[in-house]
Amino acid sequence: MDRVLDLIRKEEKRQKETLMLIPSENYSSKAVRAAVGSVLSHKYSEGYPKKRYYQGNKIVDEIEQIGINRAKKLFGVPHANVQPYSGSPANAAVLFALVSPGEPIMGMQLAAGGHLTHGQPNITFSGKYFKSVQFGVDEKGLIDYDEVGKLAKKEKPRLLIIGPTAYPLKFDWKRFDEIADSVGAWLVADIAHVAGLIIAGVYPSPAKFAHVITTTTHKTLRGPRGAIIMVTKKGLSRDSDLAVKIDRAVFPGLQGGPHDNQTAGIAIALDEASTPGFKKYGRQIIKNARFLSKELIQGGLRLVGGVTETHLMLIDLRSKKLAGNVVAEALEVAGIVVNRNSVPNDTMPPFYPSGIRLGSPAVTTRGMKEFEMKKIAGWILEIINYVKNYKLPKDPKRRISFMKEYKQKIGGDKFLINIAKKVKELCKEFPVS
Ligand SMILES: Cc1ncc(COP(=O)(O)O)c(C=O)c1O
Repeated sequence: MDRVLDLIRKEEKRQKETLMLIPSENYSSKAVRAAVGSVLSHKYSEGYPKKRYYQGNKIVDEIEQIGINRAKKLFGVPHANVQPYSGSPANAAVLFALVSPGEPIMGMQLAAGGHLTHGQPNITFSGKYFKSVQFGVDEKGLIDYDEVGKLAKKEKPRLLIIGPTAYPLKFDWKRFDEIADSVGAWLVADIAHVAGLIIAGVYPSPAKFAHVITTTTHKTLRGPRGAIIMVTKKGLSRDSDLAVKIDRAVFPGLQGGPHDNQTAGIAIALDEASTPGFKKYGRQIIKNARFLSKELIQGGLRLVGGVTETHLMLIDLRSKKLAGNVVAEALEVAGIVVNRNSVPNDTMPPFYPSGIRLGSPAVTTRGMKEFEMKKIAGWILEIINYVKNYKLPKDPKRRISFMKEYKQKIGGDKFLINIAKKVKELCKEFPVS
């Protein structure tokens, strides 16, 4: 067998036997995976349905149109483009469609819970090609809408691009709409993380407030990797050409041929998301995350923003004087997979941040509920306590060797491996398709 196929099998086993707590990950259905692995990846379809530059697209036209129709219906918007390769190119296309290089845009800082593509300065296209104005959060880790409003009045951005990547409370889209309106800016709502929650009715929809909505399709939405850009009624009433501008910015502006296999996977995921079962899954995601966050707080951890209102939580490890890396590595040995993450006003660099981020979508897909969250919280608390004496060196030069030695030491640690066995048992009770 090809080495790569063998590695894919190993990865499948890893995903089955460990707890996927990274809030942006999920298990897609067999139908979605069949579409992604189908012959559709052989086809070239530059253009849009019925306006292609290649022959042989009758079937692809139908598939893409089904995807578009389903997206419009589910999110309640008049226009959808299902071609963006992923969330970052979707945001790039929107920015290129609506703002000229050098013009000011506004977004939430990465460390405050925003995304790289929302104007992270210096290292991203969004911070390099536009004049990026960024807002943060207060000491509790919460958005101060008055402050955001004042900053917008001062900097007069042409566009606001906002959406949570590591922000545990619900966004007030109306307040953002008022802020954007007060300076005549476009409002782009990036619902990549919360799209599935919006469909399930457990997170507010920005459809009435934003001009444009972008989303990835592989997080709470549980589809293949990919993205959708939507134009709202409000967007079309501001500019009747908005849909055309967005479509042109995707193709030919930024991309060539769409990934038709991905488009088919998105169409299938959108159908799956229209079922009562999906709503139930969305409600349970929130219940699970809420329960897990309460247990962790009761166990003595500090969570940014307190008990979560969404699918994710951010543990601030500064009070424990622990680095996110140290905790994340130990959790992984125990079969609990999270990601290290900056916390608001973090003084540590992003590679050695002071927090870890975790969420409930994937374990909810497996069917886990509050009872299992209690077990998971217990393990996390035990592990954080177990590694409490492993302090990252203050001297940045010593950090790489410290982490190397630490990983070697905990790699075969009996205590952690014992938890990994219990995790595996739990995972067996909740198989994935
Ligand atoms: C809010 C938000 N927007 C955009 C993206 C980018 O998506 P992708 O990784 O598919 O480019 C992410 C990914 O984490 C995200 O959280």
